[in-house]
Amino acid sequence: MLAVGQRILKSARHTEKLSHELLGVLHPSRPKSFPLFSRLISTASVQKQRNGEAAAHNLQNVTVVGLGLMGAGIAQVAAQNSFHVTVVDEQDEYLQRGMVMIRKSLDRITKKKFPNEPKGAEKFIDDTLSKVTISRNILKSVEDADLVIEAITENIEAKQTLFRTLDEIAPPKTIFASNTSSFSVTELAKVTERQDRFGGLHFFNPVPLMSLVEVVRIQETSAATFNALFQFSKELGKSPVACNDTPGFIVNRLLVPYMMEAVRMLERGEATSSDIDKAMKLGAGYPMGPFELLDYVGLDTTKYIIDGWHEIYPGNPLFYPSETLNKLVEDGHFGRKTGVGFYRYKTANGK
Ligand code: CAA
Ligand code: NAD
Repeated sequence: MLAVGQRILKSARHTEKLSHELLGVLHPSRPKSFPLFSRLISTASVQKQRNGEAAAHNLQNVTVVGLGLMGAGIAQVAAQNSFHVTVVDEQDEYLQRGMVMIRKSLDRITKKKFPNEPKGAEKFIDDTLSKVTISRNILKSVEDADLVIEAITENIEAKQTLFRTLDEIAPPKTIFASNTSSFSVTELAKVTERQDRFGGLHFFNPVPLMSLVEVVRIQETSAATFNALFQFSKELGKSPVACNDTPGFIVNRLLVPYMMEAVRMLERGEATSSDIDKAMKLGAGYPMGPFELLDYVGLDTTKYIIDGWHEIYPGNPLFYPSETLNKLVEDGHFGRKTGVGFYRYKTANGK
């Protein structure tokens, strides 16, 4: 067994170049030659803390595949809670965008957490970022992973292809979890030889703020795996609930048909999108109206969810696709992340 520092060094080497390039973005005031040894010192001290916690599982190294809206949030909360996190995406540009999202979210959190303590804020951000290793090499990124959380685009073939590859390269100890919003976790697990070490970990957007995690157990998930995933969610400061592998689990089975009915209401000309949003916020106490939420979740993701369900249950009117949604996605308007959705935003990903 290699020492933690050696292990981190080993996994960090192949990503070092990219990490250094990204550090210019993450720490604008810091020279690009951020010394690797300071990362090693900080991760070693974290290791001691975790050992002292007598965790009910052996999860320490977490790999998050897909550094989009959700992957960035998941990686951030895992790093904030002292896990060693490796993040993987298909292109450097996506990794950079994801790390910028993490940095911005950490800035918002520290503003509240350390209002008059700039040094405390800086340390919190540095400590968190020092636990994140960036990678484009899927092979290397899982070689020492205890847990892989898949958070790639909501496409079942892409997810199955990824899990098939991961199953071949990850060590036997590695637990796999999908953050899928809508697909059957059983169908994802089927392509692997480790269905007992497979489950769903469904986080909510924005991950740093939303407390819920739906922990999805398929028939084959072992008790040890389920308990590890449940405990892991708690160690991220979340409140997990156990879910069966049903379409949309709990929240999305209710939330997605609600959002789609709002779109149909708009299509029928019964009210404007801003009045529907206003009504649901003021009349039902929701923090966002359905159109604000659709833009926030991503219109692409919502379309993939509804298309997937419609294919399986073509007769269920709750899952009927919408021409309005399809047209927006076809035109590349995915909501906040592209700057245009049902509303227009000043900047992509911004307000
Ligand atoms: N990271 C860190 N902090 C953040 C943040 C982020 N990503 N986003 C917002 N914040 C902070 C802000 O800085 C702000 O802090 P202060 O109170 O110190 O000012 C605070 O949160 C409130 O933010 P805002 O003032 O910008 O806006 P808000 O009051 O509307 O709150 C919200 C934002 C928490 C997102 C709230 O609107 C909300 O709860 N919306 C509903 C979200 C929701 O329903 N999510 C589930 C989507 S469905 C899903 O995720 C499942 C799926 O599979 C599709
Ligand atoms: P996103 O489009 O913001 O991010 C997806 C990321 O995955 C992109 O950066 C993309 O480059 C990357 N990717 C795609 N294929 C990949 C591959 N083969 N290998 C590595 N990276 C790959 O999407 P998102 O909103 O973060 O959603 C990710 C997952 O989380 C989906 O399954 C979605 O249904 C689920 N989810 C989304 C939300 C939400 O509110 N958006 C909430 C809960 C769960």
